[in-house]
This record gives sequence, C-alpha cells and structure tokens, in this order.
Amino acid sequence: MILGKVGLAIGTVAGIAFIRWATSGGGTLNLALALLLTAVFVMWLGYMIPRARMILVSVGFFTLMSGIFASYSNWLPQVRGEVPPPAEAAGSGVKPEDMPVDKLAEKGEMIIFGNIGTQQGTEGKGQCPLCHGFKKGIVSERAPNLMGIPTRAGERVKDPRYLKPDTIQTEAFSGSGRATTAVEYIAESHSCPNCFVVAGYGVKGSNDRESPMPMIHKPPTQLTIDELIAVDTWLFQREGGDVPPVSEIRAAYEKFIPPADRAEPVKEAAAPAGGAPAGPMIATGADKPEDIIMKMGCVACHKIPTTGAKFGAVGPVLIEKTNAPKRIASSEYKARIRAGKAHATTVKEYVIESIVNPSAFIVPDYVQKSNPEVSAMLPDFGKKFTYEALDKLADFLLSIDEAAAVKDGMMPGKKAEVDSGDRTAAMAVAHAGYAIASR
Ligand code: HEC
Ligand code: HEC
Repeated sequence: MILGKVGLAIGTVAGIAFIRWATSGGGTLNLALALLLTAVFVMWLGYMIPRARMILVSVGFFTLMSGIFASYSNWLPQVRGEVPPPAEAAGSGVKPEDMPVDKLAEKGEMIIFGNIGTQQGTEGKGQCPLCHGFKKGIVSERAPNLMGIPTRAGERVKDPRYLKPDTIQTEAFSGSGRATTAVEYIAESHSCPNCFVVAGYGVKGSNDRESPMPMIHKPPTQLTIDELIAVDTWLFQREGGDVPPVSEIRAAYEKFIPPADRAEPVKEAAAPAGGAPAGPMIATGADKPEDIIMKMGCVACHKIPTTGAKFGAVGPVLIEKTNAPKRIASSEYKARIRAGKAHATTVKEYVIESIVNPSAFIVPDYVQKSNPEVSAMLPDFGKKFTYEALDKLADFLLSIDEAAAVKDGMMPGKKAEVDSGDRTAAMAVAHAGYAIASR
C-alpha cells in the first residue's frame, strides 16, 4: 500500500517536471529531472505489475540512461566554462625572445598560412602563399618556391648579380648597407624586395630590375618585426637545420627597417592571434567591393584604379570597362571557346570567369612560359566568394576604365608612375581598407 502511494507520487512529480520542461522552453535540467523521475516511476510499475515486468523494466532502464545523459550534457558546459581559454595559442603578445623555438615557428606558420600543419591556405596575415609555393615540386612563374630558402639565401649573397646590383633600389634605406648573411638576405627580401630581384621574377617589362613582391613590413601586409621573426624562424625550423637565434634575426630587421617604419606591436595586440581569423575567409554580399579587393588579396597582384590597390604588379591593371569587351572579342578568346575552355558571352561573365576560373583564358601577355595552360592567378577564389559578392565585385570592376588608370598614374608610358610620397599616402589608404576588411 505504502509503496503504491510512493510510486504514484513519483509519477505525478515526473509529470509536473515534464510540463515544466515543455513550458520553460526545453531547459535540459528540467528534462533530466523529468526523465530520471519517470525512470523510477516506470521501474516501480514494473515491480507492481509482474506480467509486464520485463518490458517496463527495460523501458525504465532506457529512460534512466537518457536522464543520465541529459543531466551530464547539462553539467558539461558549466565545467568547460571554467577551463581558461587557450591563451597564447599562437603566442601573440609574448616577445619572440621569451618563446620556445617551436612555438615561435608555429606562430610564423600561422602568419603565413592561417593554420598549422598543412602548409597550405592563404588565410594568414602575411599572404605569402598568394604568390609563393612552399612545398617541393610546386613551380610557378609568380614567385620562387620557398623550399630550401635558408641554404639558397646563403648562396644568393655571394651571387655576382647580388654583389653588383642593377635594380631600381639597391639599399633598403640610404646607408642601410646590403645583406651579408642568409638571415640578413631573408630579412632584406621581406623589407626591400627591389634590393635583389631573382632572375625571371621581375615585374613584366622591368628586365628584372623591379620586384612585384610587396614590402612586407608596410601596408597592406604590415607585419611587425616580431611577426617577421616568427616567419623566418619557421622558414629555418621546417628544414630541420639550425635555427638562428632571435637576436640575430632581430638585428637583421633593424638593419633594413628604419625605426619610423616599424609596425607598432600595439597593432599586433589588437589583431587576433597570429593574425589568423577563425575560419576560412569568405567575401560576402555585405562587403563593399573595395573591401573585398583588400580582404581577398587582389591588391597583392593587381593595380585597381580608384582604390587603394596601387602597387600589385603580378597581373594586369584591372580596367575591365576597357579590357573585358576587347578580351571577349579577341581571336585568342574565341579559340578558347572553341576548345571548350572558356564560356563567357557577356563582359560580366568574362570578369566572373576570370576570378573563379582564371585558367579558362589567360591574358596573352601573362601566359607563363613553363606552364602555358595555367594562370598565375590563384585557382580557388571560386570557393571564397558568395554569389552576391562576385556579382558586386564584377559590377565594380566593370565600372573602371583606362581613363581612370591614366588619372591614377597606373598606365606606364601614359603618365609618370606614382612617386614615393604618393606611395606612402596610398599605402595608408590601402591599409585602412585592409583593416576594415580583415576580420
Ligand atoms: C605579390 C606576390 C608576393 C607576395 C604576396 C610575397 N612575395 Fe615573396 N617574392 C615574390 C616575388 C615575385 C619574388 C622574386 C622577386 C624578388 O626577388 O623580389 C619574391 C621573393 C621572395 C624571397 C627571396 C626568394 C629567393 O629565392 O631569393 C623571399 C624570402 C620571399 N619572397 C618571402 C616572402 C614571404 C615570407 C612572404 C609573405 C610574408 C612573401 N614573400 C610574399 C612575390 C611575392
Ligand atoms: C597571385 C597573383 C594574383 C592574385 C592574388 C589575383 N590575381 Fe587576378 N590575375 C593575375 C594574373 C597573373 C592575371 C593574368 C593571367 C590571367 O588572365 O589569368 C590575372 C587576371 C585577372 C583578370 C582578367 C583581367 C583582364 O584584363 O582580362 C581579372 C578580372 C582578375 N585577375 C581579377 C582578380 C581579382 C578580383 C582578384 C582578387 C579576388 C585577383 N584577380 C587576384 C594574378 C592575380
């Protein structure tokens, strides 16, 4: 008799708990309570009704297990919340001098790729993979593969072409001197790309006197010396040889970057760890075209009149109002259509195709000699745009014509190139855009 009353009472409480769970919008704690009480009730019924004992006991058992899981998942997040966040995941804010070599190298890898262990991705703040290959066997005319760079750097400084420079700029700044060691050569490559141009990789038409690589310590990339130290540490460490001490790398950067040009470490602290965003970088319809250009790194390779993209020298100046109609009317483009490679029938389709499938048609002056079927532009932009973002960007690029490029001093031969004063101002504009667009 007593047992009967207890069982009914538990059943009633379980029922109330279920109602509370349903009306309170499904809190897991109420659910857990209801399930646990129900389990007890069903088990009790099993005890009272011998004929249905087997089935009631198994139903009770499953309800009990569900109740335990529900209370466990309710308890779990609270415990997790007390675990401190994985601070210093990429070592931001800590001086390179105070970091173990492998942590510092990891930070460098994050800055280059935006992730660790894959050696691919362009989501890192440094954006190096937009142009450089890092694995054995990747050959591109865009930029030298950086595999083996520590050894090669030591040879470069003894190269007669290095010792007798014939480039548009031969010193990082007046009186800086030139590199004498591998560590210095790498630091100089990053801060003064024009100081030495690897044969065959110069800006088109410059006779290898000018480098298309941006100065990495200046906007839009603007890595701090601490970040550059991390990058170089990774370049050395991954080859398995000796990693130069931080003090030696720092001294090299201080040789080539005057104090006024050193990016503020404060900026580094404000940026996410290692400069890497959480997920893959995607341009959406919410982004302004100018921001997309900065965010997706088009600025590294293209000059785009009316925007902060003033120095990209790997690809053509983007004046699609002028270029796109000429391209689709050209015999070269028609040949690609006949070959089933290109498909655009309107200027807008041409621009979108150029972005998402650059090898469909390669602008004749930019065909890579060693790899004529493959564009020097990155192949994976198609995965990094929403349709609205592409649509907006295409309209924007199609609004720019040759006259805008002449006005902005981007057409060599039509007007003088931007002078260095303008260059700094334009870089500041570029950086402002980059800061908005980059997470
Ligand atoms: C816009 C394309 C571009 C980007 C982005 C770029 N580079 Fe370069 N880089 C080049 C080109 C082209 C060369 C070869 C011409 C020269 O010597 O300057 C080069 C040369 C170098 C060299 C000298 C290579 C050698 O064999 O002597 C190093 C080192 C280097 N880059 C490192 C980097 C790192 C690290 C980053 C990212 C922080 C980076 N680059 C970003 C285009 C780029
Ligand atoms: C690594 C360097 C690189 C990057 C980054 C890059 N491009 Fe290019 N782009 C090129 C090269 C080289 C060409 C010429 C070869 C070709 O036609 O594929 C080109 C061609 C183009 C063309 C065709 C131009 C014409 O006049 O016919 C368009 C449009 C274009 N790029 C847009 C973009 C946009 C938009 C971005 C950023 C989302 C971008 N590119 C990023 C190197 C680059």
